[in-house]
Amino acid sequence: MPAAGSGQRFGQALPKQYMPLAGRTVIECSLAPFLADPRCDAVVVAVAANDERFARLPLASQARVCTVTGGNQRADSVLAALESIQAGDDEWVLVHDAARPCVTRAEIDALLEVAGSDSDGGLLAVPLADTLKLEVAGRARETPSRESLWRALTPQMFRLGALRSALQAARSAGRSPTDEAQALEWQGRQPRLVAGSSLNLKITTAADLVLAAAILSQRGDR
Ligand code: CTP
Ligand code: MG
Repeated sequence: MPAAGSGQRFGQALPKQYMPLAGRTVIECSLAPFLADPRCDAVVVAVAANDERFARLPLASQARVCTVTGGNQRADSVLAALESIQAGDDEWVLVHDAARPCVTRAEIDALLEVAGSDSDGGLLAVPLADTLKLEVAGRARETPSRESLWRALTPQMFRLGALRSALQAARSAGRSPTDEAQALEWQGRQPRLVAGSSLNLKITTAADLVLAAAILSQRGDR
């Protein structure tokens, strides 16, 4: 779980993953379905070098949970976590944003079912709904087709060895993928797109936190 970002767009001193949500914090909500899942052997959380908050969360003392120090880019944080894992190259690893607290068990099940039977792995994603605009100097220049375009969510699921080497290759080439699937795509792989829910939103701005609270409360998670 990459959790080493500082939340520039959220714009508060407290990093967004530690904001209160549903009686807990955002990151506790994001981790909950994995910690509740017996198929999940271990969780590695990449935290910022100066992070003092994660260690204070009750779940931090669980035997299955450990931390590493993240890096400057999201891909650096993910790679740091992967390089700490002592497991075979063929083990499956799921990467999930600390800032996505509304992921459901049903989405994780769908991802495991589809990506887990594909050698290229896969990711949760949602087809684009809005009409797209290409902006030039504040004006709409053209309308790119949204056909075949999806929004990438997390979790994303790959074989440990394949993902680690794809991220290492990207780093060697001086490139930083914005999600894990992109690193695999650069290697010529074609991860499966697994339909997720648009409720599995990423907290980016304060408005997203309001939406996440409403989503969790409607589910009875307070
Ligand atoms: N992340 C990370 N290491 C980084 C940057 C991001 O582990 N160097 C994590 C964030 O903590 C978050 C996830 O990657 O859980 C998705 O990133 P994003 O939503 O962009 O979070 P931030 O980078 O914190 O936000 P911003 O881009 O607005 O600064
Ligand atoms: Mg970011």
